[in-house]
Amino acid sequence: MRGGLKSVHSRWSNHFAYVLAATGAAVGLGNIWKFPYIMGEHGGGAFVLVYLLCIAVIGIPVMMAEVSIGKCGRQSPAYAVKKLAEQSDASWGWRSIGWMGLVTGYLILSFYAVIAGWALAYVFYGISGEFINDRESISSLFSNLNRSPLPLLGWSSVIILTTVIVVGNGLKHGLERAVVYIMPAMFLLLVIMAIYAARNGDFSQTLSFMFSPNFSSLTVNGVVVALGHAFFTLSLASGVMMMYGAYLPEETSITQTSLWIAAADTLVAIIAGLAIYPIVFAQGMAPGQGPGLIFVTLPLSFAQMPFGGFFGTLFFIMLVFAAFTSAIALIEASVAYLIERATFKRWPAAAISGFGIWILSLGTVMSFTGFEVTNFKFAVFGEQIEASFFQMIDYLTANLLMPIGGVLIALFVGWAVKPSLLKQEFQRDMLIYPLWRFLLRYLSPVAILLVFLTLIGVINV
Ligand code: TRP
Repeated sequence: MRGGLKSVHSRWSNHFAYVLAATGAAVGLGNIWKFPYIMGEHGGGAFVLVYLLCIAVIGIPVMMAEVSIGKCGRQSPAYAVKKLAEQSDASWGWRSIGWMGLVTGYLILSFYAVIAGWALAYVFYGISGEFINDRESISSLFSNLNRSPLPLLGWSSVIILTTVIVVGNGLKHGLERAVVYIMPAMFLLLVIMAIYAARNGDFSQTLSFMFSPNFSSLTVNGVVVALGHAFFTLSLASGVMMMYGAYLPEETSITQTSLWIAAADTLVAIIAGLAIYPIVFAQGMAPGQGPGLIFVTLPLSFAQMPFGGFFGTLFFIMLVFAAFTSAIALIEASVAYLIERATFKRWPAAAISGFGIWILSLGTVMSFTGFEVTNFKFAVFGEQIEASFFQMIDYLTANLLMPIGGVLIALFVGWAVKPSLLKQEFQRDMLIYPLWRFLLRYLSPVAILLVFLTLIGVINV
């Protein structure tokens, strides 16, 4: 993407550039860090199945809707929505979809930076040879990192500062060029690790854990988490897909590119699962241990591999890069907003936005270091809930804001936008168009609504 709002008319040089940039935003910590641990927390196979279903029938149609909004509107999210609404004689109120995305992206980055900070710390652990084949010392590596706020604060501050510098300088282009190499290399390394794990870990238990669904282990909350993760991992309802759509060359097929992005993203997540779980089972670890999962399993497999220190360091470097390309996309909407509305220059806009994120990130840092002040107890629909600041931001963004944003996007494009505006975009995909429209108008909103009603206890299962 080229330098914020001022240059809305510049376009990606070709489809490939767009697919890579969008895949760069989609593939990140969500695939390699989050997917494996939430799959573990929600029982494996049945969760994976629901997640795949959500990607196919809700995520992909909503992604196509977002890209269409961007491509038709050719402006930043809220204004692209406004333009389409005007052209369709619909209410301006739909603009709120754009604002919601901005807020969602901002909140996500506040914890995303902390997790990326963990990954950055592990680059240095790799370099200093700390990946040794001993479960106890690998576990204490992770717990030491979270013992006090200072180290974690330091690592996540480095991530936020670097993001601000890159976005402030408008250096994104160089970074996106680097991603062309990093993404395929990371994919290759993940495959190597999966093969390694398959040969040295408990692969058959992994296969049955991930692919033979046991529905009794799936709760309603698990379904909500799977749905939310489909949005999170595809970077939906957080503004970026609309922004990237605004730079699409006229002749690009929205259907084909969306399918590619979703397929690549899903594949990375599944392979990450295959690389991690054989180690989890072989070492007798608990699949449901939460956010630290990859940080206590992967170093163990690196420790056993030939040249493991080297490969381990390389892996975490790539993870930092993958997180970094997402972080830059996550901050962009708020920076663009400050430049456009408050007429800030790029630098101060990036600095102000980054400072706000840094303040918010303190809540997540303190959640992981176990500060009591960041532990909240409250009652929702009569149920007592205890959650850390991190858990609340995570739940709020992935399980509430994104699905609600997704419903609004589906309703806006499915019902409010004039079909004639959209049909132009799907001239070459006329076979897909009716299916897409059906999913968007009926299936996605109804499915998301049903999940919510079940969650709050209106529907009993
Ligand atoms: N998809 C990213 C991941 O899986 C996370 C994400 C959510 C994101 N919304 C985004 C990244 C918006 C960039 C922009 O890690």
